[in-house]
Amino acid sequence: MTSTNLTARSLVDMAEGEISREIFVNAEIYEQEKERIFSRAWLYIGHESQIENPGDYFVSKMGEESVILTRDFAGKIHVFLNSCAHRGMRVCRYDEGNTSAFRCPYHAWTYKTDGTLVGVQDYDNAYQPPFDKSEWGLVEVPQMANYMGTIWATWDEDAPPFEEYLGEATVAFDHGFCAWDGSDAGTELLGSTQKWRVPCNWKFIAENFSGDWLHGVSHRSVDLIRLGPSGEVGRRDDFGQLVVNGFPEGHGILYSLYPNKQERTEYAMSPETSEYFQHCWERRLKKLGDKAGTCPLVGTIFPNMSFHAQQPRTLLVSHPTGTNETEMWRTYFVDKSAPESVKQFLREYYMRYSGPAGMTEQDDMENWNYASEASRGMIARRRPYHYKAGLGVGSPHSELPGVVTEQPITSEQNPRFFYKRWADYMDLGSWDELRDAKSVRFWERAS
Ligand SMILES: [Fe+2]
Repeated sequence: MTSTNLTARSLVDMAEGEISREIFVNAEIYEQEKERIFSRAWLYIGHESQIENPGDYFVSKMGEESVILTRDFAGKIHVFLNSCAHRGMRVCRYDEGNTSAFRCPYHAWTYKTDGTLVGVQDYDNAYQPPFDKSEWGLVEVPQMANYMGTIWATWDEDAPPFEEYLGEATVAFDHGFCAWDGSDAGTELLGSTQKWRVPCNWKFIAENFSGDWLHGVSHRSVDLIRLGPSGEVGRRDDFGQLVVNGFPEGHGILYSLYPNKQERTEYAMSPETSEYFQHCWERRLKKLGDKAGTCPLVGTIFPNMSFHAQQPRTLLVSHPTGTNETEMWRTYFVDKSAPESVKQFLREYYMRYSGPAGMTEQDDMENWNYASEASRGMIARRRPYHYKAGLGVGSPHSELPGVVTEQPITSEQNPRFFYKRWADYMDLGSWDELRDAKSVRFWERAS
């Protein structure tokens, strides 16, 4: 894999739960990730509610590359490389908006929202014989998927369909991204996307949200103040029982299994929201019965889309911008049908919890930043990272898919599965090989 002929799998020791620091700090490995991971895997692009009307667009990223998510005037959704076919300039320099066409500011080549090249400066005089404009449109992703309003794309035309890529991790969406009140009204973004850069490798972030519950200790200060919507000192949320759920595709979910009791007090800070969320909970109980409390808390869909699915409910994409730098993009969701007062309450709560100003996010970033810095030295790089918690404990579960470890046993199984799949992508060339690697019964203890 590298000039020293190492394989990625030799750096990720699943049996011992040890992972080489090289995969976080080595620039050569990072360069290979761009091709092996970010040019092949399905990547989160944006949410359908960001492009509701014809001509709406949202500029997103796939790895380091800028892409445009847009809806054309026939209503079709597209994902284009944000680079002019003429000389590579970004054809769209704004974050989001609405347009009738994308006009390159460099030499004025103009593209319709379906990617077709329609305008070339001095076309009739300068190009003799004329070139075929239909061959010089915007580069479009070969595969795109819309899953419950979330838009995904891959640059690999041979990649399996998104549903196969997601595997049984669909539970994350089924429970986490439907409306809280159980209605069909759906969800919408609250405001726009917060973006900022952190000096750490992107995998620190993806791994954290895949189900690293041991790091809760670093949020101790947040737990001691009234940060959570309950207004209580000493807790952010009523977490219930914690369960990690890992998948052979590299995805990981951390659940809090909420008891099916009637009363919910976690939004007691405001009488209005307390009443609204009690009403939502009662509707969910009625609709989902015993499964109402089985809702993901956080998770990561391989490679770099993470989410909070309860309180708060947000989505985070960790776009790599270098070996030791990542751009974090966080968006915030509310039920479309929620009253304005509830949306406002959640806006304030989300802001103090997540994002660059959010206290919980700041705790995490402090860890990732300094862990990165302290792992880059020649001596530091000799030691592997330690992922041994719950080693050999995960097993199939009667109600949840994938591999499960429950409290009271803490487990780092989900980060282990994430890195196992990362190594598969880095070492294996074809999707057939990747499928075979996935089909291996890799859980740590056969039931
Ligand atoms: Fe955290």
